[in-house]
Amino acid sequence: MQHIEQLISAATTEFAGVNDAAQLEQAKARYLGKSGSLTELLKGLGKMPAEERRSAGAAINRAKDQIEASLNTRREAIKRAALEAQLDASALDITLPGRGRGRGGLHPAIRTLERIQELFRSIGFEVADGPEIEEDWYNFTALNTPENHPARSMHDTFYLEDAPGVLLRTHTSPVQIRYMKAHVARYGHLEHMPEIRIIAPGRVYRVDSDATHSPMFHQVEGLWVGENVCFADLKGVAADFLRRFFESDDLKVRFRPSFFPFTEPSAEIDVAFMSGTMEGRWLEIAGCGMVHPNVLRNGGIDPERYTGFAFGMGPDRLTMLRYGIDDLRLFYDGDLRFLAQFN
Ligand code: PHE
Repeated sequence: MQHIEQLISAATTEFAGVNDAAQLEQAKARYLGKSGSLTELLKGLGKMPAEERRSAGAAINRAKDQIEASLNTRREAIKRAALEAQLDASALDITLPGRGRGRGGLHPAIRTLERIQELFRSIGFEVADGPEIEEDWYNFTALNTPENHPARSMHDTFYLEDAPGVLLRTHTSPVQIRYMKAHVARYGHLEHMPEIRIIAPGRVYRVDSDATHSPMFHQVEGLWVGENVCFADLKGVAADFLRRFFESDDLKVRFRPSFFPFTEPSAEIDVAFMSGTMEGRWLEIAGCGMVHPNVLRNGGIDPERYTGFAFGMGPDRLTMLRYGIDDLRLFYDGDLRFLAQFN
């Protein structure tokens, strides 16, 4: 059956030369189709003498198996090649990093506020807040700054149109009054009123804008009212805070006499680093002083029995010092290349 061997090798060679699925099916039909060569051979079996028919039949069936096997191998190869071509064409580079979702982070100013809160909480202060749209009375009058008082011109105030007596708070000090009043309402009837120990971080507003001033900036108010609270307590709290905030004992803190209508005596707190690029330069960090008796009275507290200290610091200045930033406007430009560095 020489003919059969030739048929098998012809089929295998033909299949191998075909690179396309449809052409392969046409080639298959030439061997295994209704009038394909192998089918013709099978048809011829009937005319064979009975003694030859058996072995010829077996040989033809073996040939059919072999041809089908080489057909299937080729089919798989063509399918795989087509898939690979498709993958190449879609040019998907799975080694590229995914786009993912932009990860948010904390703004450096907020980072500083959180750090300040953490440090003050650790020495028993609570965190309070108040409205940014404030009444004139809380922002000035109750803080011992009556109308026409020259100290009002220390602040360039944003007033609300069509709302007399309403403004954007120029400092966080009105929270002192609001908190004292609420505290007295709750505990004023007690023989021993608990002490007030709060900080009040938040946004404040002034008509001002340059490299170190922004019309909106942050302050952190501090207030400690109790029996026998004195200036030494203020000095201790402030100096300890600054050393912990900057994680350094290598700094000096100084209290420089100053004036605020709502404290007496008043001071500015300055800090100087003993090493690094800012070495020896005094920087103003906060205003502070002993709460004026009129302010305690406006908060409903008896100045004969209670004393207190208050401070108002500029956390944005602290952020600039801690991270070495020299232009405050960078904080508010919203440039992610700048902001992302802090996360
Ligand atoms: N409120 C003052 C300011 O904004 C700072 C201050 C707060 C001073 C509390 C003394 C006591 O300048």
